Amino acid sequence: MSFTVAIDGPAAAGKGTISKGVAAHFGFAHLDTGLLYRAVGRRTLQGDEPVAAARALTAEELEQGDLRTAEIAQAASKVAVIPDVRAALVDFQRAFARRAGGAVLDGRDIGTVICPEAEVKLFVTASAEVRAERRFLELSAKGADVTREQVLADVRERDARDSERSTAPMKPADDAVLLDTSDLSIQDALSHAIGQIEKAKPATL
Ligand code: CDP
Repeated sequence: MSFTVAIDGPAAAGKGTISKGVAAHFGFAHLDTGLLYRAVGRRTLQGDEPVAAARALTAEELEQGDLRTAEIAQAASKVAVIPDVRAALVDFQRAFARRAGGAVLDGRDIGTVICPEAEVKLFVTASAEVRAERRFLELSAKGADVTREQVLADVRERDARDSERSTAPMKPADDAVLLDTSDLSIQDALSHAIGQIEKAKPATL
């Protein structure tokens, strides 16, 4: 039996942490769809044409190297505006969403475009300053040479590009539950998400 949890929201809002926590709690599979766009973005930085790169993308590429750099994030949000890039990635995401045993997908358009029929939809957000601080700490912990100001500017630029694009812009689905994590601990945000899923999950899953 399939059961889909769609978790959308802007950069560094806590989607990844919540999605991983939810997947571990319920034993669901998890797909970070941002990695697909990041992998295509990385290919374009290496000189590939974006649509061809999206069509040729393999699951192995998602595991190779560090896709979570600031440079690749920017490249990802640039390829993500191209309708044929998005179209090339739809089938993989939908098949993942409908696998047996439950799936959590996090991204920007999961509840609106990829899985409008998802049983649970969350839109996770936080102020740009809080998100930038979290991302700054994450990147610095890996030894990246970044400043708080650069990270905040990067987050704002990507948010604008992601929400203003004409194909699959980032926005909450009409039936999404909003979760503002600005003043929540990871544990509180996760508990809230788990509570929403408990309400919708069939007892047999
Ligand atoms: O981790 P973070 O929230 O910073 O970014 P991400 O989820 O890895 O996504 C990187 C970029 O991919 C975003 O800025 C979007 O432009 C794009 N993306 C998208 O367009 N649609 C998705 N479902 C997921 C990511």
